[in-house]
Amino acid sequence: MENRSADQGDVSRTPDESCEAARVVVVGSINMDLVIRAAAIPGPGQTIAGHNFSTMPGGKGANQAVAAARCGGRVSMIGRVGNDDFGQRLLLGLKANGVDTEGVMFSEGVSTGVATIVVNDIGENAICVAGGANLLLSVDDIDEQLDLIKQADVILIQLEIPQQTAVHVIHEAHSRNIPVILNPAPVGQEINPDIFKADVLIPNQDETTRLCGEPAHDIHSAKMAGSALVARGAQAVVVTLGRRGAVAITADHIFQVPPFNAKIVDTTGAGDAFCGAFAVAYAQQMKARKQKNTLEVPEEVLRYAARFAGAAGALACNKFGAQPSMPRLHAIQRLIQRSC
Ligand code: RIB
Repeated sequence: MENRSADQGDVSRTPDESCEAARVVVVGSINMDLVIRAAAIPGPGQTIAGHNFSTMPGGKGANQAVAAARCGGRVSMIGRVGNDDFGQRLLLGLKANGVDTEGVMFSEGVSTGVATIVVNDIGENAICVAGGANLLLSVDDIDEQLDLIKQADVILIQLEIPQQTAVHVIHEAHSRNIPVILNPAPVGQEINPDIFKADVLIPNQDETTRLCGEPAHDIHSAKMAGSALVARGAQAVVVTLGRRGAVAITADHIFQVPPFNAKIVDTTGAGDAFCGAFAVAYAQQMKARKQKNTLEVPEEVLRYAARFAGAAGALACNKFGAQPSMPRLHAIQRLIQRSC
């Protein structure tokens, strides 16, 4: 096996090479994305003409579940949809991507989550989400799905579900020594401090700024802000910085994750690709090191998973849409090899 520099991680091992696929349980949102491409993102009071409109599967939870499945994870999703056409279509899409949907429940009298998204000509977006059924995912629902949770090598959550439910997931996972990765997106007005008990936090620069109250728009400030988040309880924080790559922070280490070149078509879902890929790489490496069922976050595993995830995030920018742009394992491997 060839040795690589520490900054690049051991890219010669990839998530599919362990004998058994990592089991990832994603607890999170499932949305239908209503997407308009336009020259610009309209400001308040503006009406502009768009280029075209599409409905596409989305939701941070579902996107991350598809990302994890496409890069080799054995993935189960826990969430809620409305008993409507969007909900049915989204479940079919998850299944078609190999995601187990036994843990997805239907809510009567409420719509499936919907996101309206405008993507401009340089691939930036503005998103507004009506949470619908996602907001009904309760602590009791989690208790009903404990059999799924128990089987996980890693659990991946975001904040498009009630925070109380996310905190309960962390509690139940930790009582079984199962690590939890939290993508704290979106960051709302009030933050339950118990979310910082997640083992690995993966915020983007804007979320980091909101969580810390200090700007985190470049590598230096992201390192400072990440350290502040580690001080609140997370063992590791990976701040994603778009074109600048990412920085990872633990109590003992701070390192940069170099960016991959990306052709930017649409950045929607790039963070979700990062998180889904990170979860699989992280769990697979822990299994390979026989460090399953421990809440420790080894530095080499963090380096490896962050680099793998960075490649997935870059590839997700190449295509239009959130779920449709989630890259497959071979594409991630190819990009990493080309960049060595
Ligand atoms: O992260 C992108 C996602 O955010 C979109 O798919 C949309 O549904 C919102 O949840």
